[in-house]
Amino acid sequence: MTKPSKAVMHEIENLVNTLNHHCYQYHVLDSPEISDSEYDNLFRKLKQLEDSSGHVLPNSPTQRVGAPPLDKFRKVRHTEPMLSLDNAFSYEEISEFDRRVKRFLKSDDEIEYTAEPKYDGLAIELTYIGGLLKRASTRGDGNEGEDVTLNIKTIMEIPLKIESSHVPDEIDIRGEIYMYINEFKALNVERELNGEQAFANPRNAAAGAVRQLDSSITAKRKLHLACYGMGASKKANFKSQWEFIQWLKDSRLPVPDNINLAMGIEHVIDLVKHIENKRSSFSFEADGVVIKVNDFGLQETLGIKTREPRWATAYKFPAHQGVTKINDIIASVGRTGTITPVALLEPVSIGGVTVSRSTLHNWDEIERKDIRIGDTILVERAGDVIPHVIGVMKEKRTGNEKLFPPPVTCPDCGSSVEKEEGGVAYRCIGFNCRAQTQEHIKHYASRSAMNIEGLGEKNVELLFSQGLINHFVDIYRLKKEALLALPRFAEKSARNLVDAIEQSKNTTLSKFIYSLGIVHVGEYAAKLLAKNFHALEDLFNVSEDRIASIRQMGEKTAMSVSRFFNDGKNLGVLQELKNLGLKISNPDFEVAGSGERPFNGLTFVITGTLTIPRQEVEGIIEKHGGHVAKSVSKKTDYVVLGESPGSKLNKAQTLGIKKISYEEFMQMVEERS
Ligand code: IVH
Repeated sequence: MTKPSKAVMHEIENLVNTLNHHCYQYHVLDSPEISDSEYDNLFRKLKQLEDSSGHVLPNSPTQRVGAPPLDKFRKVRHTEPMLSLDNAFSYEEISEFDRRVKRFLKSDDEIEYTAEPKYDGLAIELTYIGGLLKRASTRGDGNEGEDVTLNIKTIMEIPLKIESSHVPDEIDIRGEIYMYINEFKALNVERELNGEQAFANPRNAAAGAVRQLDSSITAKRKLHLACYGMGASKKANFKSQWEFIQWLKDSRLPVPDNINLAMGIEHVIDLVKHIENKRSSFSFEADGVVIKVNDFGLQETLGIKTREPRWATAYKFPAHQGVTKINDIIASVGRTGTITPVALLEPVSIGGVTVSRSTLHNWDEIERKDIRIGDTILVERAGDVIPHVIGVMKEKRTGNEKLFPPPVTCPDCGSSVEKEEGGVAYRCIGFNCRAQTQEHIKHYASRSAMNIEGLGEKNVELLFSQGLINHFVDIYRLKKEALLALPRFAEKSARNLVDAIEQSKNTTLSKFIYSLGIVHVGEYAAKLLAKNFHALEDLFNVSEDRIASIRQMGEKTAMSVSRFFNDGKNLGVLQELKNLGLKISNPDFEVAGSGERPFNGLTFVITGTLTIPRQEVEGIIEKHGGHVAKSVSKKTDYVVLGESPGSKLNKAQTLGIKKISYEEFMQMVEERS
């Protein structure tokens, strides 16, 4: 290839600078100046020029994607070890830290500290040489980590080149890779749709994404970075943590939200309390507050003790974790036949809630963590995620612990058990497995399904054991007299249950589909189906391809839905339910191609966590002719508010923009459609 002309090189440089500018506006400042399609056009133009000339700048945005998958990660030695932090579990222990610092410095003078949220993610080191991002590595054991450069380059908010008035010759910048809680939830919904196991928390999801050998997978996960520290450097003359943080900001590197400077430990404790109070409104998981001596000179004097610096401590928020013992493990059969090992625990209080059971997920997990009956374990209960075992404290073993091997037959019906092909789950293949049937009925009657009040788990178990309900269809054949013969029912409770069953007969298609308990069909997939099919009968004998053509529908779900609605026995059950008086309306159905664009010319901004993934809401707005903007401006017509809305809400208030809840938004969609 001949050397490209000066004009081409110049054009390439201009395009790279323009694209990087817009990338920063969009991903860091949340304030785009051009539309996505304008960005895409510029990007395409740059790619063409690079391909035809062979001239590719190291900070070109085209270098963020498209690298072939690796066989394994290369090891990287950190020039300076990545340390861990000492912990403080109370305000008193924070004061104790301050006293230690003063004792070591032999001074009574008040110390200046920074206080910053402790992001719960994965530590990373970015090495910039001559201002260019040369390498990104995981922490590993602190001395040696893994080279994850290709993956980290896919994170758009990380600059490939430092743009700043002062660029050190070399600098290692440390930070935490994390995921927003709402993006983590959306990812799990997507995984559910694809029949994949959900991640236990945002940290695991982020760590899994960083350690992908194929960077195109990392690129699809929405990762973020908060930079908080410095490793080795050449010609970086920062005097304090605060000055360093300001430099990071100037250099367009993302820094933690809510970072503060405080004189004296009392002021620090006030800040810690403030951050702790705001914690639940954060869009990310924070597990504490990191307190650092601000002055780098003092940090140097204080130095390091073994693995932790003397100049910092991490105040940990009250734990989501507890230590307890596994008294027993049982195999529980779910409604789809999946057999899940469940640990029965010595009850332990975690964050004010008593935990006495924890799912062990599957036998691969038991083997990987080497979990045995009698083990002492660390268990976590974070947010709305069910409790799970973090790990075993092997040093507490007595030798009497017992293994819990995978089942050969179903613990309930004795039928054969199969391991899912390519998966981890064991499944009972029995046709008449009573455990499956009972779980199916529980699911059908549950609150998020048909919502039959008075038909909770205990009553289902009673009615099932007494032979009054053998299938969920039997619910509609229950008679008050039969209930009255049971020990738990009196005239009033029996009448209430029969009335509740009668009332539940009016339902919506999405709830009904969800209630059927079709494998891989959760609430979200059920809603997608209701949007695309007007009536239940339209799904009868539906092909797999038709279902798979629905945007966001996974392959496994499509196969399962099609199989369900092509089974004569199932169709018979559905017909019978209709004969028994079930009335199914469908407010979710979207008339495609009606030609109406009721949101034409309207600009929406979404903030906070919504009950359905954000992309879905964006899709609805766009489908109706509206425009979705990332940040609030005078041009915004509506701000759609989810749970824990961010700073966009304040801005909307200042500018007097109309705010609507998600429910109001959906109502608007319905009214205008
Ligand atoms: S400073 C020597 N600041 O917490 C100081 N760490 O337990 C090293 N972390 O490995 C860390 N947010 O992964 C620091 N604002 C913050 C942090 C933070 C999260 C993580 C980091 C580190 C771990 C220490």
